[in-house]
Order: sequence, then structure tokens, then C-alpha cells
Amino acid sequence: MSRGKTFLVIFLFMLLLMPLVLGAEYGGENEYQAGHKLFAILGVAMIAVGVVYYALTKRKLIITHQTSSKWGFELKMEHPYMTVIGPVSPMTVHHFFTITGTLLVFVHFFSCSNYSGIAGTTGLGMAVVLVLLNIMGFIGRSINRSIISTAEVNDMESAKKYVNRYEKWKKIHIMLAVIFTVLLVIHLNAVL
Ligand code: HEM
Ligand code: HEM
Repeated sequence: MSRGKTFLVIFLFMLLLMPLVLGAEYGGENEYQAGHKLFAILGVAMIAVGVVYYALTKRKLIITHQTSSKWGFELKMEHPYMTVIGPVSPMTVHHFFTITGTLLVFVHFFSCSNYSGIAGTTGLGMAVVLVLLNIMGFIGRSINRSIISTAEVNDMESAKKYVNRYEKWKKIHIMLAVIFTVLLVIHLNAVL
């Protein structure tokens, strides 16, 4: 494993533990401390960045991505205006931001002890949807890899099968993202 990858794994592992540690520390009397809301806001913002960045680069809308071993950024006066150059694909950006965002949001989630009422149930609903989205994300990635590897060996029969599966997967993945957004709007409406 490269040094960058090792760092990434350790970083994600630390983030994984953070919700439990912070959630326990701030529980009880300080239930609704501002810190938790800040984690929620940061987490939701990261998830949004991860989704929007991927959606835009995929369609070459406003931003386009260019793979290279070095990082870089270019601005142009004509469409798509911005070119992000870097060693990681937009898909990796999507993974990194959505997973990290989910972990941050879970600090807020674990620090609340009341999962009833509109705020509580929408909060619980979002937590379930986020876990599903993250698990499903990995399933989609693996179907995606299967499409590429079967197409590479010219096994078009299998490739077609995986493409069909991927189309179905994508619908569910996007539907879950929409459900998350609806729950978030209701949640914010109830708490703010
Ligand atoms: C921008 C994002 C968010 C903001 C600003 C926010 C804000 C809040 C606030 C202010 C409360 C306290 C309600 C009260 O005092 O009665 C709350 C409660 C709660 N939130 Fe969030 N939240 C956000 C996202 C989320 C997400 C994504 C989840 C789930 C993964 C979640 C789960 C919960 C839960 C379970 C509660 C406890 C409900 C209760 O005690 O009544 N929140 N939220
Ligand atoms: C909070 C979590 C997540 C949300 C809200 C989310 C949302 C979305 C949305 C809205 C798209 C469609 C983008 C577009 O076509 O414009 C998408 C695509 C995708 N997501 Fe996620 N995602 C999340 C987490 C993940 C994770 C953790 C993974 C993988 C480990 C993942 C893998 C994918 C893949 C492979 C696609 C590509 C679909 C395609 O265009 O072919 N997602 N995601």
C-alpha cells in the first residue's frame, strides 16, 4: 500500500471511531450542543459536495476532470470553465466525501438520545438511509468493475447482464439519495 493510501485508511478509521467517542462524551445533559449541529452541517455539506462534484464532472457541466499524477486547476472562459487535474477520479471523490460526510453526521446522530417526534424519526430515517447508501455504493462499484472486466475479455453476454444489473442499482441508489433529501428537509423544518 502506498503511503497516501495508508494515511487515508488510518484517517477513515479514526473518523469511524469519532462518532462513538464524541457521541458518548456529549450525551446526557448537553444533548443539543451546538458542536453536534456543526458536525451535522459539515457532514451534510460534504455529502452534497461529493454528489454535486460527481454529477457535474460526469456530465462535463461547469467542471471537468482530467486524470494526471499531479494536482492542478485550470480556469477557461468557455464551457466547461473549470478543469480539475488530479490523480484521483471523480468517483473516488464521491466515495471519500460521502463516506466522510456520513461519519461526521453520525456524531450528531449518536449524540441525540430521543428518536421520536418529527425530528427524531426523520433523524433515524436518515441514519438508516445513509447506511444503506454507503453499503450500496460499494455494491455498485463492484458491479461497475465487473462490467469493465467482462468487457475487457470480450465476454459481452456477461457484460450485458452486469449493465442491466447496474441500471437497476443506479435507480435504487439515486432513489435513496432523494429519500435522504426529503427527510433532511422535513428534519430541518422541524428543528430550525
Ligand atoms: C444540516 C443538517 C442538520 C441540522 C442543522 C440538524 C439539526 C438538528 C437540531 C437543531 C436538532 C435538535 C432538535 C431539538 O433540539 O429538539 C436535531 C436533532 C436530531 N437530529 Fe439533526 N440536523 C441535521 C441533520 C441530521 C442528520 C443527517 C441526521 C441523521 C443521520 C440527524 C439526526 C437527528 C436526531 C436523531 C435528532 C434527535 C431528535 C430529537 O431529539 O428530537 N440530523 N438536529
Ligand atoms: C451519503 C451517501 C451517498 C449519496 C447521497 C450518494 C448519491 C449519489 C447520487 C445522487 C448519484 C448520481 C449522480 C449522478 O448521476 O448525477 C450517485 C452515483 C454513484 N454513487 Fe453514490 N451516493 C452516496 C454514497 C456512495 C458511496 C459510499 C459509494 C461507493 C462506495 C457510491 C457509489 C456511487 C456510484 C458507483 C455512482 C455512479 C452511478 C453512475 O453514474 O454510474 N455512492 N451517488
